[in-house]
Amino acid sequence: MSVFCLALLCIGLSGSSAFAIPRINTDKRNDRPIIGVLAQEVYNPPPKQNSYIAASYVKFLEAAGARVVPVLINQNEEEYKQLFKSINGILLPGGGVDLVSSGYAKAAGIFYRLAIEATSQGDYFPVWGTCLGFEQLLVLTCGENLLSRTNTSGVSLPLQFTKDAMESRLFKDFPPALMTALATEDITENSHTWSISVEAFMKNEELKKFYKILSTNTDGNTEFVSTMEAYSYPVYATQWHPEKNAFEWSKPYYPHTPSAIETTFHMAHFIVNEAKKSFHSFGSKDEEQKHLIYNYNPVFTGATFQQMYFFE
Ligand SMILES: *[C@@H]1O[C@H](CO)[C@@H](O)[C@H](O)[C@H]1NC(C)=O
Repeated sequence: MSVFCLALLCIGLSGSSAFAIPRINTDKRNDRPIIGVLAQEVYNPPPKQNSYIAASYVKFLEAAGARVVPVLINQNEEEYKQLFKSINGILLPGGGVDLVSSGYAKAAGIFYRLAIEATSQGDYFPVWGTCLGFEQLLVLTCGENLLSRTNTSGVSLPLQFTKDAMESRLFKDFPPALMTALATEDITENSHTWSISVEAFMKNEELKKFYKILSTNTDGNTEFVSTMEAYSYPVYATQWHPEKNAFEWSKPYYPHTPSAIETTFHMAHFIVNEAKKSFHSFGSKDEEQKHLIYNYNPVFTGATFQQMYFFE
């Protein structure tokens, strides 16, 4: 679930679609990608548990051959800039914090702007948003919160692909059988109470020129955007949860069928391959070791998330 907020942050990204995705030299690939996963505030935190990352996002990336660094909230801009130069992409997870005032929103904004600036100068840096991360990216791109209420807080659906999906960077290499499964089986899990309606999206020039809609869904009343990718930047987002299929078990509507599990891995494989196009790195092995998520132990909570990483 995400929080709808009225205070709006205005981020002017002028000429955002003027750049083409830089041509990537395919002879060069970073097969040791490290991806940042953004933490977020714990609601009513017990001592030393001020922020968290659900472990499913970490497993999701690790299963496809990446290592993970937690991106903690409430760090200063210099620290985020240093970390940006050290990692190969960032994942903005789902959750339930404010899209403007939270530490999550502030850190997401800094990484988003750094990613756009870097990529437009040929320094490829992918950004992935899931659920709350999807909503956060919308706010960052257009500077407004255009979400509206939908009845989508615990339902698995098939994707309604747009005609752009087949040629999209995200889906074009998916096995045809998996595309059929995605279009016909209830294997994309929705846990959100807010959505961007296709109508609101199409009325907003910033969103329309920045993102290509790859799939939509409906709650019976409102058709909303469920998957999108930026035209000219490696920015991708799903309103649904690809990581839950393989790694979360607490709800009966989390799908675990063979094609649901395959979905998790194909999405992760795509994201990690995007990160392999980034050549940022830590200054030293020591620096790298110090930041990796292996320095933290996930806690078995068995509730909304099976396991969570907590940070002070
Ligand atoms: C919301 O959707 C569920 C199915 O996912 C349905 O059973 C329920 O009646 C809907 N509620 C409203 C208020 O439309």
